[in-house]
Amino acid sequence: MSDHESTYVPKTGVEKWLDTRLPIVRFGADYMSLPTPRNLNYWWTFGGILALCLVIQIATGVILAMHYVPNTEMAFASVERIMRDVNGGDIIRYTHANGASMFFIAVYLHMLRGLYYGSYKAPREMIWIIGCLIFFLMIATAFLGYVLPWGQMS
Ligand code: HEM
Repeated sequence: MSDHESTYVPKTGVEKWLDTRLPIVRFGADYMSLPTPRNLNYWWTFGGILALCLVIQIATGVILAMHYVPNTEMAFASVERIMRDVNGGDIIRYTHANGASMFFIAVYLHMLRGLYYGSYKAPREMIWIIGCLIFFLMIATAFLGYVLPWGQMS
């Protein structure tokens, strides 16, 4: 943000106290007040699409966890039970599994948009760096989720 003047003005005493010690609110406010790129197009919708993907994965994941048994002997059988006996269980599981793949397709398009249009450049570097952290967390989460059914697929 170094080449952009800060426009944040702390109002309350607490805000002033925090701003002199840990200017994290200023940091967020300055990012929120960045100008909108004049070349905005539909590739910028992928951030919102990703947020929707995350909500869907959490909602279906929580429901799956209600029926899943985290035990090496019972995990596979509990997933089979979700598929056959739990009402709507197959739909929930397939939504979660295919949703994970679509989440990654969306994040690749989101990142390619960022690379193509230079969204990683100043003054947005921290958005890109935090995005990279989110991406690694996504990879770890997807890998661990894929292992959960204990499927012995080798
Ligand atoms: C769960 C994953 C993610 C979600 C929910 C998310 C969400 C968003 C949203 C809502 C926006 C604003 C709208 C837009 O420009 O699309 C945005 C912008 C941005 N995102 Fe993400 N994002 C995610 C992952 C990532 C990753 C992995 C990267 C890069 C490594 C990244 C880099 C950026 C950048 C640089 C912008 C600013 C674009 C601009 O202003 O031109 N994001 N993100």
